[in-house]
Amino acid sequence: MALALVTAGESHGPALVAILTGLPAGLRLDKDAIDADLRRRQQGYGRSPRQQLETDEVEVLAGLRHGLTLGTPLALVVRNRDHRNWLWGMSPWPPEGEPEGKGTKPVTLPRPGHADLAGVLKFDHDDVRNALERASARHTAVHVAAGSVAKALLREIGIEVAGRPVEIGGETTDDGMREATDAARADRDTLGGIVEVVATGVPPGLGSYAEKADRLDARIGAALQGIQAVKGVEIGDGFDLARRRGSEAHDEIDPGLRRRTNRAGGLEAGVSNGEPIVVRAAMKPLPTLMRPLDSVDLATGEAAQALVERSDVQAVEALAVVAEVAVAWELARAAREKLGGDALVDMLAARRHYLERIGDRWQPSA
Ligand SMILES: Cc1cc2nc3c(=O)[nH]c(=O)nc-3n(C[C@H](O)[C@H](O)[C@H](O)COP(=O)(O)O)c2cc1C
Repeated sequence: MALALVTAGESHGPALVAILTGLPAGLRLDKDAIDADLRRRQQGYGRSPRQQLETDEVEVLAGLRHGLTLGTPLALVVRNRDHRNWLWGMSPWPPEGEPEGKGTKPVTLPRPGHADLAGVLKFDHDDVRNALERASARHTAVHVAAGSVAKALLREIGIEVAGRPVEIGGETTDDGMREATDAARADRDTLGGIVEVVATGVPPGLGSYAEKADRLDARIGAALQGIQAVKGVEIGDGFDLARRRGSEAHDEIDPGLRRRTNRAGGLEAGVSNGEPIVVRAAMKPLPTLMRPLDSVDLATGEAAQALVERSDVQAVEALAVVAEVAVAWELARAAREKLGGDALVDMLAARRHYLERIGDRWQPSA
Protein backbone atom coordinates (compact mmCIF):
# COMPACT_ATOMS: atom_id res chain seq x y z
CA MET A 1 0.00 0.00 0.00
CA ALA A 2 1.32 3.46 -0.86
CA LEU A 3 2.50 5.73 1.89
CA ALA A 4 0.63 9.06 1.89
CA LEU A 5 0.52 12.13 4.10
CA VAL A 6 -1.93 14.99 4.50
CA THR A 7 -1.49 17.83 6.99
CA ALA A 8 -3.56 20.74 8.26
CA GLY A 9 -3.00 23.54 10.70
CA GLU A 10 -2.33 27.27 10.97
CA SER A 11 0.68 28.81 12.65
CA HIS A 12 -1.29 30.26 15.59
CA GLY A 13 -4.37 28.04 15.39
CA PRO A 14 -5.16 25.38 17.99
CA ALA A 15 -2.97 22.61 16.54
CA LEU A 16 -1.19 21.07 13.59
CA VAL A 17 -2.39 17.68 12.43
CA ALA A 18 -1.11 14.97 10.11
CA ILE A 19 -2.71 11.80 8.83
CA LEU A 20 -0.36 9.12 7.53
CA THR A 21 -1.73 6.22 5.52
CA GLY A 22 0.01 3.14 4.19
CA LEU A 23 2.29 2.40 7.15
CA PRO A 24 2.82 -1.31 7.75
CA ALA A 25 1.43 -2.83 10.93
CA GLY A 26 3.84 -3.73 13.69
CA LEU A 27 6.20 -0.75 13.44
CA ARG A 28 7.30 0.31 16.92
CA LEU A 29 7.18 4.06 17.51
CA ASP A 30 8.91 5.88 20.35
CA LYS A 31 7.34 9.14 21.55
CA ASP A 32 10.67 10.36 22.93
CA ALA A 33 12.37 9.90 19.55
CA ILE A 34 9.64 11.89 17.75
CA ASP A 35 9.72 14.61 20.42
CA ALA A 36 13.52 14.75 20.11
CA ASP A 37 13.19 15.48 16.38
CA LEU A 38 10.55 18.13 17.14
CA ARG A 39 12.96 19.70 19.61
CA ARG A 40 15.80 19.63 17.04
CA ARG A 41 13.61 21.59 14.64
CA GLN A 42 13.01 24.24 17.27
CA GLN A 43 16.66 24.71 18.13
CA GLY A 44 19.24 26.70 16.22
CA TYR A 45 21.17 29.83 16.79
CA GLY A 46 19.10 32.18 14.68
CA ARG A 47 15.65 31.26 15.85
CA SER A 48 13.05 33.53 17.43
CA PRO A 49 11.98 33.47 21.08
CA ARG A 50 8.82 31.58 20.03
CA GLN A 51 10.88 28.41 20.02
CA GLN A 52 11.64 28.87 23.71
CA LEU A 53 8.00 29.67 24.47
CA GLU A 54 6.67 26.36 23.27
CA THR A 55 8.17 22.91 23.39
CA ASP A 56 6.55 20.83 20.72
CA GLU A 57 5.30 17.41 21.61
CA VAL A 58 3.53 14.76 19.56
CA GLU A 59 0.12 13.34 20.42
CA VAL A 60 -1.30 10.29 18.68
CA LEU A 61 -5.04 10.10 18.10
CA ALA A 62 -5.32 6.98 15.97
CA GLY A 63 -3.48 4.12 14.32
CA LEU A 64 -1.22 3.17 17.25
CA ARG A 65 -1.77 0.74 20.11
CA HIS A 66 0.74 0.14 22.86
CA GLY A 67 3.46 1.73 20.72
CA LEU A 68 2.86 -0.43 17.63
CA THR A 69 1.26 0.73 14.39
CA LEU A 70 -1.99 -1.01 13.52
CA GLY A 71 -1.67 -0.73 9.73
CA THR A 72 -4.51 1.81 9.82
CA PRO A 73 -4.29 5.61 9.34
CA LEU A 74 -1.98 7.17 11.92
CA ALA A 75 -3.23 10.55 13.19
CA LEU A 76 -0.66 12.88 14.75
CA VAL A 77 -1.23 16.20 16.51
CA VAL A 78 1.24 18.90 17.54
CA ARG A 79 -0.49 21.59 19.58
CA ASN A 80 0.37 25.26 19.15
CA ARG A 81 0.94 26.27 22.77
CA ASP A 82 1.09 29.91 21.65
CA HIS A 83 -2.57 29.63 20.58
CA ARG A 84 -3.54 30.68 24.12
CA ASN A 85 -2.43 34.21 23.13
CA TRP A 86 -4.50 34.07 19.94
CA LEU A 87 -7.79 32.65 21.25
CA TRP A 88 -9.82 35.54 19.85
CA GLY A 89 -7.64 36.31 16.83
CA MET A 90 -7.43 32.73 15.57
CA SER A 91 -10.75 31.40 16.85
CA PRO A 92 -12.06 28.85 14.32
CA TRP A 93 -15.63 30.02 15.08
CA PRO A 94 -16.84 33.64 15.20
CA PRO A 95 -15.15 34.90 18.37
CA GLU A 96 -17.22 35.91 21.36
CA GLY A 97 -16.55 38.90 23.57
CA GLU A 98 -14.25 41.87 23.08
CA PRO A 99 -11.13 41.41 20.90
CA GLU A 100 -8.17 40.51 23.05
CA GLY A 101 -4.72 39.00 22.62
CA LYS A 102 -2.88 38.81 19.33
CA GLY A 103 -4.17 38.80 15.76
CA THR A 104 -7.18 41.03 16.42
CA LYS A 105 -6.34 43.62 13.76
CA PRO A 106 -6.19 42.79 10.03
CA VAL A 107 -2.71 42.68 8.49
CA THR A 108 -2.53 44.81 5.34
CA LEU A 109 1.24 45.20 4.85
CA PRO A 110 2.49 42.36 2.61
CA ARG A 111 6.12 41.28 3.08
CA PRO A 112 8.21 40.93 -0.08
CA GLY A 113 9.31 37.31 -0.27
CA HIS A 114 6.40 35.87 1.72
CA ALA A 115 3.01 34.45 0.75
CA ASP A 116 1.23 37.65 1.78
CA LEU A 117 0.53 39.37 -1.53
CA ALA A 118 0.03 36.31 -3.74
CA GLY A 119 -2.11 34.74 -1.01
CA VAL A 120 -4.62 37.58 -0.61
CA LEU A 121 -4.99 37.97 -4.36
CA LYS A 122 -5.40 34.24 -5.00
CA PHE A 123 -7.92 33.57 -2.23
CA ASP A 124 -9.72 36.95 -2.14
CA HIS A 125 -8.65 37.68 1.44
CA ASP A 126 -8.65 41.17 2.94
CA ASP A 127 -6.53 40.14 5.91
CA VAL A 128 -3.02 38.98 4.98
CA ARG A 129 -3.10 36.81 8.12
CA ASN A 130 -5.50 34.46 6.32
CA ALA A 131 -2.67 33.66 3.91
CA LEU A 132 0.40 33.82 6.12
CA GLU A 133 -0.92 31.58 8.87
CA ARG A 134 -0.77 28.49 6.66
CA ALA A 135 2.10 29.59 4.43
CA SER A 136 4.28 30.00 7.53
CA ALA A 137 6.83 27.27 8.15
CA ARG A 138 5.27 26.56 11.53
CA HIS A 139 3.48 23.53 10.10
CA THR A 140 6.82 21.96 9.27
CA ALA A 141 6.58 20.82 12.91
CA VAL A 142 3.97 18.21 12.03
CA HIS A 143 5.97 17.21 8.96
CA VAL A 144 8.85 16.55 11.32
CA ALA A 145 6.61 14.33 13.46
CA ALA A 146 5.49 12.43 10.34
CA GLY A 147 9.05 12.25 9.03
CA SER A 148 10.24 10.93 12.35
CA VAL A 149 7.81 8.02 11.86
CA ALA A 150 9.28 7.52 8.38
CA LYS A 151 12.76 7.43 9.93
CA ALA A 152 11.61 4.72 12.35
CA LEU A 153 10.43 2.65 9.38
CA LEU A 154 13.66 3.28 7.47
CA ARG A 155 15.74 2.27 10.47
CA GLU A 156 14.04 -1.15 10.40
CA ILE A 157 15.29 -1.62 6.85
CA GLY A 158 18.80 -0.36 7.53
CA ILE A 159 18.50 3.20 6.18
CA GLU A 160 19.67 6.24 8.18
CA VAL A 161 19.03 9.83 7.11
CA ALA A 162 20.79 12.88 8.56
CA GLY A 163 20.64 16.59 7.70
CA ARG A 164 23.05 19.35 8.68
CA PRO A 165 23.67 22.98 7.82
CA VAL A 166 26.75 23.45 5.64
CA GLU A 167 26.56 27.20 5.03
CA ILE A 168 24.85 30.12 6.78
CA GLY A 169 25.06 33.64 5.37
CA GLY A 170 27.92 32.50 3.13
CA GLU A 171 29.94 31.16 6.09
CA THR A 172 30.97 27.52 6.37
CA THR A 173 32.57 27.29 9.84
CA ASP A 174 30.57 27.11 13.10
CA ASP A 175 32.11 30.34 14.37
CA GLY A 176 31.58 32.09 11.06
CA MET A 177 27.93 31.02 10.98
CA ARG A 178 27.37 32.36 14.51
CA GLU A 179 29.14 35.62 13.80
CA ALA A 180 27.16 36.14 10.60
CA THR A 181 23.93 35.46 12.52
CA ASP A 182 24.88 37.91 15.28
CA ALA A 183 25.77 40.57 12.72
CA ALA A 184 22.50 40.12 10.84
CA ARG A 185 20.55 40.25 14.11
CA ALA A 186 22.31 43.48 15.09
CA ASP A 187 21.43 44.94 11.69
CA ARG A 188 17.83 43.70 12.10
CA ASP A 189 18.35 41.71 8.89
CA THR A 190 18.00 38.02 7.95
CA LEU A 191 20.15 35.30 6.39
CA GLY A 192 19.81 32.16 4.32
CA GLY A 193 22.07 29.18 3.85
CA ILE A 194 22.58 25.67 2.54
CA VAL A 195 21.77 22.31 4.16
CA GLU A 196 22.94 18.85 3.19
CA VAL A 197 21.05 15.60 3.71
CA VAL A 198 22.79 12.23 3.46
CA ALA A 199 20.98 8.88 3.47
CA THR A 200 23.07 5.77 4.04
CA GLY A 201 22.13 2.11 3.75
CA VAL A 202 19.88 2.77 0.75
CA PRO A 203 19.80 -0.32 -1.46
CA PRO A 204 19.96 0.03 -5.24
CA GLY A 205 16.63 0.05 -7.00
CA LEU A 206 14.42 2.54 -5.12
CA GLY A 207 12.55 4.78 -7.55
CA SER A 208 12.14 4.22 -11.28
CA TYR A 209 13.14 5.64 -14.64
CA ALA A 210 9.85 4.61 -16.25
CA GLU A 211 7.93 7.88 -15.66
CA LYS A 212 9.18 11.18 -14.39
CA ALA A 213 6.73 11.10 -11.47
CA ASP A 214 8.34 7.85 -10.30
CA ARG A 215 11.91 9.11 -10.41
CA LEU A 216 13.39 9.24 -6.94
CA ASP A 217 15.52 12.27 -7.83
CA ALA A 218 12.37 14.11 -8.94
CA ARG A 219 10.50 13.12 -5.79
CA ILE A 220 13.30 14.12 -3.46
CA GLY A 221 13.78 17.33 -5.44
CA ALA A 222 10.10 18.20 -5.17
CA ALA A 223 10.03 17.33 -1.48
CA LEU A 224 12.93 19.69 -0.76
CA GLN A 225 11.67 22.40 -3.09
CA GLY A 226 8.32 22.15 -1.32
CA ILE A 227 9.84 23.42 1.93
CA GLN A 228 9.33 27.11 2.68
CA ALA A 229 12.19 29.40 1.62
CA VAL A 230 13.99 26.73 -0.42
CA LYS A 231 15.05 28.24 -3.73
CA GLY A 232 17.39 25.59 -5.06
CA VAL A 233 18.04 21.86 -4.82
CA GLU A 234 21.21 20.03 -5.79
CA ILE A 235 21.70 16.27 -6.13
CA GLY A 236 25.24 14.98 -5.72
CA ASP A 237 27.68 17.41 -7.31
CA GLY A 238 24.67 19.14 -8.88
CA PHE A 239 25.38 22.42 -10.63
CA ASP A 240 29.10 21.82 -10.55
CA LEU A 241 28.66 18.79 -12.84
CA ALA A 242 27.59 21.17 -15.60
CA ARG A 243 31.07 22.68 -15.58
CA ARG A 244 32.98 19.38 -15.94
CA ARG A 245 33.76 16.93 -18.69
CA GLY A 246 32.09 13.54 -18.67
CA SER A 247 35.33 11.88 -17.66
CA GLU A 248 35.28 13.96 -14.46
CA ALA A 249 31.55 13.78 -13.82
CA HIS A 250 30.55 10.12 -13.49
CA ASP A 251 31.26 7.41 -10.94
CA GLU A 252 33.33 4.60 -12.42
CA ILE A 253 32.40 1.04 -11.55
CA ASP A 254 34.95 -1.35 -10.03
CA PRO A 255 34.66 -5.15 -9.70
CA GLY A 256 32.18 -5.97 -6.94
CA LEU A 257 30.13 -3.13 -8.43
CA ARG A 258 31.82 -0.65 -6.11
CA ARG A 259 31.99 3.01 -7.07
CA ARG A 260 35.16 5.07 -6.78
CA THR A 261 33.28 8.33 -6.30
CA ASN A 262 29.73 9.46 -5.57
CA ARG A 263 29.30 12.49 -7.78
CA ALA A 264 25.79 11.36 -8.73
CA GLY A 265 24.70 11.59 -5.09
CA GLY A 266 23.49 7.98 -5.10
CA LEU A 267 20.94 8.54 -7.86
CA GLU A 268 21.22 7.49 -11.51
CA ALA A 269 18.25 7.55 -13.90
CA GLY A 270 15.94 8.40 -11.01
CA VAL A 271 16.89 5.18 -9.22
CA SER A 272 19.03 4.73 -6.10
CA ASN A 273 22.33 3.09 -7.10
CA GLY A 274 23.38 1.80 -3.68
CA GLU A 275 25.72 4.68 -2.83
CA PRO A 276 24.71 7.19 -0.14
CA ILE A 277 22.08 9.65 -1.32
CA VAL A 278 23.50 13.16 -1.00
CA VAL A 279 21.32 16.21 -1.62
CA ARG A 280 21.51 19.90 -0.78
CA ALA A 281 18.91 22.63 -0.48
CA ALA A 282 19.52 26.37 -0.66
CA MET A 283 17.43 28.60 1.61
CA LYS A 284 16.84 32.25 0.82
CA PRO A 285 17.12 34.87 3.61
CA LEU A 286 13.89 34.91 5.63
CA PRO A 287 11.38 37.47 4.39
CA THR A 288 10.29 38.97 7.74
CA LEU A 289 12.79 41.71 8.50
CA MET A 290 12.87 43.69 11.74
CA ARG A 291 13.90 46.61 9.52
CA PRO A 292 11.10 46.12 7.02
CA LEU A 293 11.32 46.43 3.26
CA ASP A 294 9.22 48.79 1.17
CA SER A 295 5.71 47.61 0.46
CA VAL A 296 2.18 48.94 0.01
CA ASP A 297 -0.67 49.17 2.52
CA LEU A 298 -3.39 47.10 0.86
CA ALA A 299 -6.07 49.02 2.79
CA THR A 300 -5.05 52.41 1.34
CA GLY A 301 -2.92 51.63 -1.72
CA GLU A 302 -0.24 53.94 -0.28
CA ALA A 303 3.46 53.18 0.07
CA ALA A 304 4.26 51.66 3.46
CA GLN A 305 6.70 49.39 5.25
CA ALA A 306 6.10 45.65 5.30
CA LEU A 307 4.73 43.77 8.31
CA VAL A 308 7.07 43.25 11.26
CA GLU A 309 6.23 40.16 13.31
CA ARG A 310 8.31 38.04 15.66
CA SER A 311 10.62 36.10 13.40
CA ASP A 312 13.87 34.18 13.03
CA VAL A 313 17.15 35.78 11.91
CA GLN A 314 17.91 32.55 10.08
CA ALA A 315 16.43 29.07 10.27
CA VAL A 316 19.07 27.03 8.49
CA GLU A 317 19.59 24.58 11.37
CA ALA A 318 15.84 24.06 11.47
CA LEU A 319 15.76 23.57 7.71
CA ALA A 320 18.37 20.82 8.10
CA VAL A 321 15.87 18.86 10.22
CA VAL A 322 12.90 19.65 7.96
CA ALA A 323 14.93 18.63 4.88
CA GLU A 324 16.11 15.46 6.62
CA VAL A 325 12.55 14.33 7.30
CA ALA A 326 11.42 15.34 3.80
CA VAL A 327 14.07 13.05 2.30
CA ALA A 328 13.20 10.34 4.86
CA TRP A 329 9.55 10.53 3.85
CA GLU A 330 10.35 10.11 0.14
CA LEU A 331 12.70 7.20 0.84
CA ALA A 332 10.09 5.51 3.03
CA ARG A 333 7.52 5.99 0.26
CA ALA A 334 9.86 4.50 -2.33
CA ALA A 335 10.76 1.62 0.00
CA ARG A 336 7.06 0.85 0.54
CA GLU A 337 6.57 0.72 -3.22
CA LYS A 338 9.55 -1.59 -3.68
CA LEU A 339 8.88 -3.90 -0.74
CA GLY A 340 5.11 -3.71 -0.10
CA GLY A 341 3.67 -5.68 2.81
CA ASP A 342 0.75 -5.10 5.16
CA ALA A 343 2.92 -5.94 8.15
CA LEU A 344 6.49 -4.91 8.89
CA VAL A 345 7.52 -8.59 8.91
CA ASP A 346 6.32 -8.90 5.29
CA MET A 347 8.35 -5.85 4.36
CA LEU A 348 11.46 -7.23 6.08
CA ALA A 349 11.03 -10.59 4.32
CA ALA A 350 10.74 -8.84 0.95
CA ARG A 351 13.87 -6.84 1.73
CA ARG A 352 15.78 -10.02 2.65
CA HIS A 353 14.70 -11.68 -0.54
CA TYR A 354 15.66 -8.68 -2.67
CA LEU A 355 19.08 -8.27 -1.08
CA GLU A 356 19.69 -12.02 -1.53
CA ARG A 357 18.69 -11.82 -5.19
CA ILE A 358 21.08 -8.98 -6.00
CA GLY A 359 23.67 -10.10 -3.43
CA ASP A 360 25.79 -12.22 -5.73
CA ARG A 361 26.33 -9.15 -7.94
CA TRP A 362 26.06 -6.19 -5.55
CA GLN A 363 27.43 -5.66 -2.06
CA PRO A 364 27.03 -2.43 -0.09
CA SER A 365 30.18 -0.25 -0.16
CA ALA A 366 32.14 -0.48 3.11
C1 LIG B 1 12.15 26.03 9.40
C2 LIG B 1 11.75 27.32 8.76
C3 LIG B 1 11.56 28.44 9.56
C4 LIG B 1 11.19 29.65 8.98
N1 LIG B 1 11.03 30.74 9.80
C5 LIG B 1 10.69 31.93 9.23
C6 LIG B 1 10.57 33.10 10.03
O1 LIG B 1 10.74 33.08 11.25
N2 LIG B 1 10.25 34.26 9.41
C7 LIG B 1 10.05 34.33 8.06
O2 LIG B 1 9.79 35.41 7.55
N3 LIG B 1 10.15 33.25 7.28
C8 LIG B 1 10.46 32.06 7.83
N4 LIG B 1 10.58 30.96 7.01
C9 LIG B 1 10.39 31.11 5.56
C10 LIG B 1 8.96 31.41 5.14
O3 LIG B 1 8.06 30.49 5.70
C11 LIG B 1 8.87 31.41 3.61
O4 LIG B 1 9.86 32.23 3.07
C12 LIG B 1 7.50 31.89 3.15
O5 LIG B 1 6.51 30.96 3.55
C13 LIG B 1 7.39 32.11 1.63
O6 LIG B 1 7.62 30.92 0.94
P1 LIG B 1 8.86 30.75 -0.06
O7 LIG B 1 10.04 31.36 0.62
O8 LIG B 1 9.01 29.27 -0.24
O9 LIG B 1 8.56 31.47 -1.33
C14 LIG B 1 10.99 29.75 7.58
C15 LIG B 1 11.18 28.60 6.78
C16 LIG B 1 11.57 27.41 7.36
C17 LIG B 1 11.79 26.20 6.49
